[in-house]
Amino acid sequence: SESESGNIQHSKFLNVAHRGASGHAPENTLAAFDKAVEMKADYFELDVQRSKDGHLVLMHDTTVDRTTDGTGAVKDLTLTELKALDAGSWFSDKYAGEKIPTLEETLDRYRGTGIKILIELKSPSLYPGIEQQVADMLAEKNLDNRGDKIIVQSFDHDSVQRFHRQMPSVPVGVLVSYTAYKETGVTDDDLDSFAGYADYVNPNKALVDAELVRRVHQHGMKILPYTVRDREAADRLFEAGVDGFITDYPELGYTHHHK
Ligand code: G3P
Ligand code: CA
Repeated sequence: SESESGNIQHSKFLNVAHRGASGHAPENTLAAFDKAVEMKADYFELDVQRSKDGHLVLMHDTTVDRTTDGTGAVKDLTLTELKALDAGSWFSDKYAGEKIPTLEETLDRYRGTGIKILIELKSPSLYPGIEQQVADMLAEKNLDNRGDKIIVQSFDHDSVQRFHRQMPSVPVGVLVSYTAYKETGVTDDDLDSFAGYADYVNPNKALVDAELVRRVHQHGMKILPYTVRDREAADRLFEAGVDGFITDYPELGYTHHHK
């Protein structure tokens, strides 16, 4: 309903597959993104970092240790070294041999599938200039002016603002962590500041209630909390009036989606 939220356009509930459908397939791999497409998620989320030789690659942690058979920092490994790693076996033998994708091959693969992409700039302070590099990649792929086909977000709000200045046609989101905001909550000053550039406020779900949703809407932004992993959290957030959520299990968004 639009009654309580002023001029916010209530569109369809956005079901965002976190790092791909990462409850079902290894995070930040083409297998997890394919699964998100198969499960008819609206978006999949991914984490972008940069290899030693300057390629944009997808990995959540700043080291490859947890999700591959290698060791070391992403930024100290070349693309060839990263591509030699197995990014699937840690999750299940079924995914043995799954590779670390580049951002470019991911944008190319899902073009025309209808799925949209939520790009997180992960630890961008380790990668000076990554905002311009991602903007250039999006422009090269003609993804710079296509509605909400792409959203760019980060916990690093300076980085979000840099990206926004370089590519104002692509909507951006601020990630809001529990640890950084648990004492104060998200204040009106925070929301005024975010509203100066952002379209989405994407907080840890523990920070979210109906009141925060109302205040984010009042500031003209949408809210996509993370990370939903069970039905109870999904139902609670839906009742709070969120615009969508970021989940490891896209099936948790189905009920809301089809309401
Ligand atoms: O998209 C939200 C979520 O991905 C942020 O946390 O640690 O999973 O990157 P994290
Ligand atoms: Ca992420």
